[in-house]
Amino acid sequence: MILGIETSCDETAAAVVDDDGNVRSSVVASQADLHARYGGVVPEVASRRHLELVTPVIREALAEADVTLDDVDRIAVTQGPGLIGALLVGLSAAKALAWSRGLPLIPVDHLQGHVAANFLAPEPLEPPFLCLVASGGHTLLAGVRDHAGHEVLGQTLDDAAGEAFDKVARLLGLGFPGGPALQKLAEQGDPEAFELPVAMARDPGLDFSFLKTALVYLCRDLGDDGVAERRADLAASFQAAAVGQLTAKLKRALKRGEWEAVALGGGVAANGPLREAVAALCEECGLRLKLVPLKLCTDNAAMIASAARYATPLPYPDYLSYDAFPSSRPPVPA
Ligand code: KG4
Ligand code: ZN
Repeated sequence: MILGIETSCDETAAAVVDDDGNVRSSVVASQADLHARYGGVVPEVASRRHLELVTPVIREALAEADVTLDDVDRIAVTQGPGLIGALLVGLSAAKALAWSRGLPLIPVDHLQGHVAANFLAPEPLEPPFLCLVASGGHTLLAGVRDHAGHEVLGQTLDDAAGEAFDKVARLLGLGFPGGPALQKLAEQGDPEAFELPVAMARDPGLDFSFLKTALVYLCRDLGDDGVAERRADLAASFQAAAVGQLTAKLKRALKRGEWEAVALGGGVAANGPLREAVAALCEECGLRLKLVPLKLCTDNAAMIASAARYATPLPYPDYLSYDAFPSSRPPVPA
């Protein structure tokens, strides 16, 4: 039985996953309301809140799974990437728990966690597959050929997809997080009202760019009244350009490899038009589309425990010198 802990951004999460990949419990305490007044996640506020929540959330995950720490044989925790102060709260809690029980620890890469959400029961997705993770913190096109890792085929060169949705939503006077509100507003708009360039369309690579410059200039030209009048059209046009880019890159990646399935993850996977476009693409290519339940798409600890099932545990007490990493590669332990 694995206890997973995730605190990389603004969700304090703990979960219990058994050795067959069944989610026995998955508790997520979202801080979204706390950060809404600032229009985005404030790192210091997030760490302080994690500190308050991490112990009760772990307790709740154990209780919901109807197990005690005696039933847990390894502890998995997000090591990075993420907000460093936030990560350190989860990592310290995990180390302390593992140390006090003499248990092995498994540090997990957060993005591999998003990939591994697809390995959870029921109906786990077997590699090889292409996984598109689009959230507030990352946009990643991952080639998954085995359970233990993934190849980064493409990633964003600037904002993450969800971050871009949130920023455009803010420009249009919508609250935070803006993605769902923007999708709703876009339903009343014309996606072809404004021709926003699909960024990186001519770039032969698989990276993404969600630069919103064209939209910012458009809003400036329209003026406050013009923006207020055309909000729905602006939302629909931005959404179409963002979804267009995500699916165009996915299509390009599919053509370059032998893939049997596509998986979609991250908070932006909740976006209706994105789901529809990816489903249409999969149908066109004769591929299986795996959509994990939304609560496993957004940040959670079950996906971290899932990734840990395929990683080598660090025996007690080798992990005590492990540090969190905010971005890119994990540091080499001292
Ligand atoms: O994975 P997630 O819950 O959190 C992290 O990024 O850690 O993703 C949240 C992001 C936010 O940027 C939010 O605006 C976006 O996902 N999002 C959406 C939709 N629902 C959530 N973006 C577009 N359309 C949606 N329906
Ligand atoms: Zn995430």
